[in-house]
Amino acid sequence: MARLRGPVREHTTDASTPRLEARSLCKTFTKRGNTLEALHDVSFSVAPGEFVALLGASGCGKTTLLRTVDGLEPITSGQLLINGEEEHTPGPDRGVVFQQDSLFPWRSVLKNVRMGLEFQRKPRKVASEQARRYIELVGLGGFEDHYPHELSGGMRQRANLARAFCIQPELLLMDEPFAALDAQTREIMQTELLRIWAETAGGTVLFVTHQIDEATFLSDRIVVLTARPGRIKEIVDVPFPRPRDLSIKRTPEFVAIVDRVWTMIEEEVRTAMGMTTSHDSVDDLEHTALPGNR
Ligand SMILES: Nc1ncnc2c1ncn2[C@@H]1O[C@H](COP(=O)(O)OP(=O)(O)OP(=O)(O)O)[C@@H](O)[C@H]1O
Ligand SMILES: [Mg+2]
Repeated sequence: MARLRGPVREHTTDASTPRLEARSLCKTFTKRGNTLEALHDVSFSVAPGEFVALLGASGCGKTTLLRTVDGLEPITSGQLLINGEEEHTPGPDRGVVFQQDSLFPWRSVLKNVRMGLEFQRKPRKVASEQARRYIELVGLGGFEDHYPHELSGGMRQRANLARAFCIQPELLLMDEPFAALDAQTREIMQTELLRIWAETAGGTVLFVTHQIDEATFLSDRIVVLTARPGRIKEIVDVPFPRPRDLSIKRTPEFVAIVDRVWTMIEEEVRTAMGMTTSHDSVDDLEHTALPGNR
């Protein structure tokens, strides 16, 4: 789902100000006197235009971190700076894409993609023209008047991407956006995402995934979190030049990074597995981190 809000603010910050910076961020949930520490002492920053992946075992706090950045969850302590300013409320400069596509079933592709621009109070004609450009860009030209149920899963996620990029957010938050797709569609969507991101100068991206190879293929850096409470385990540079082609996944350099991150994360996944008993969580972990699923 792409969530969209009012007019995007103009920022006067220079390029040296991180788009996003977490300083000793902690997040604890409290319910009926019980506390659960989801994130502990998390510090990292994301530069303007950078693509950063967030990787960690199930339950380590990835979605929570994204929700704090989006302003949906208050932090418990530490600081969270967006463009150098402390910010804890949802803002129109951030777009969000979730795992499940959340296109409105009663709206056509055009009207779904146009929604954020309507929130920005753009004149309908201008909004429609801009939406059509993004629909074309994601390869859905000709499907403007189709409804979500008339599209495949991959096409719906393309429409979601069009909706997210169409508002030209400064910060795009993506929470496992391709998890529901089959393996081939997912790989294609990875290249499509990079293409759209490049063609639209798509801003800064924080991308949550369970797949090490997806994180490596897409990102400039991978932030690896420990098992809950999520702390920074390591931040890994991904030095491959752009544009990137899927064939880099077969290079020894790529495989070396995947192996390195796997080694880092294996212990954390085992820790998390020791904590989890639910069927869903175990499924998740297997999907996440067994060697065949790198
Ligand atoms: N609103 C909430 N209230 C209480 N606890 C919560 C809330 N949201 C998340 N948690 C807890 O915080 C921890 C981190 O959850 P989160 O959803 O961030 O994990 P995750 O890394 O995204 O996991 P997954 O990879 O399975 O999506 C979990 O133990 C979860 O139960
Ligand atoms: Mg999550």
